[in-house]
Amino acid sequence: MSQIKSFLLLPLFLGLFLLGGPSNVSAQQKEIFVDSKCTKCHSITAAGIEKKKGGSEDEDEDADDGEKTEPPDLSHVGKDHDAAFIEAFLKKKANHVPHGDAKSTAKHKVKFKGSDEDLVKLSAWLAAMK
Ligand code: HEC
Repeated sequence: MSQIKSFLLLPLFLGLFLLGGPSNVSAQQKEIFVDSKCTKCHSITAAGIEKKKGGSEDEDEDADDGEKTEPPDLSHVGKDHDAAFIEAFLKKKANHVPHGDAKSTAKHKVKFKGSDEDLVKLSAWLAAMK
């Protein structure tokens, strides 16, 4: 009886360990995304990330493109952009490449302020959202 129980519990503990463990790359990248306040504007519903509106601190929108563009959900951003583009775009070194309904050719609203290492991880992760 107790043998059956531990047989059933083992995969559960393994799963929890994998989800919570520091070696989980996507959890780390999710953290970079949230810590970088990307969630102020973007959701990634495919990764269970909701947009968190509100909180007026750190209001650093650059008003350099005049027109209002809605920040998109990034669940499928990798279909339209590769990691190299996302890196450059988040550093404000590249203008937006239009695709579908997203017609803007402006630079990104905010510049990524974290380390280059985090930017590379974040961009690769986003590029894998297909
Ligand atoms: C102040 C609001 C705001 C914040 C904060 C913000 N973004 Fe954006 N982002 C936008 C808007 C608006 C667009 C649409 C730009 C366009 O179409 O030109 C966009 C577009 C993007 C795109 C391209 C999406 C596409 O489909 O073309 C990516 C990738 C992106 N943001 C990633 C991020 C990441 C990563 C962060 C956190 C480091 C972040 N954004 C923070 C407003 C924001």
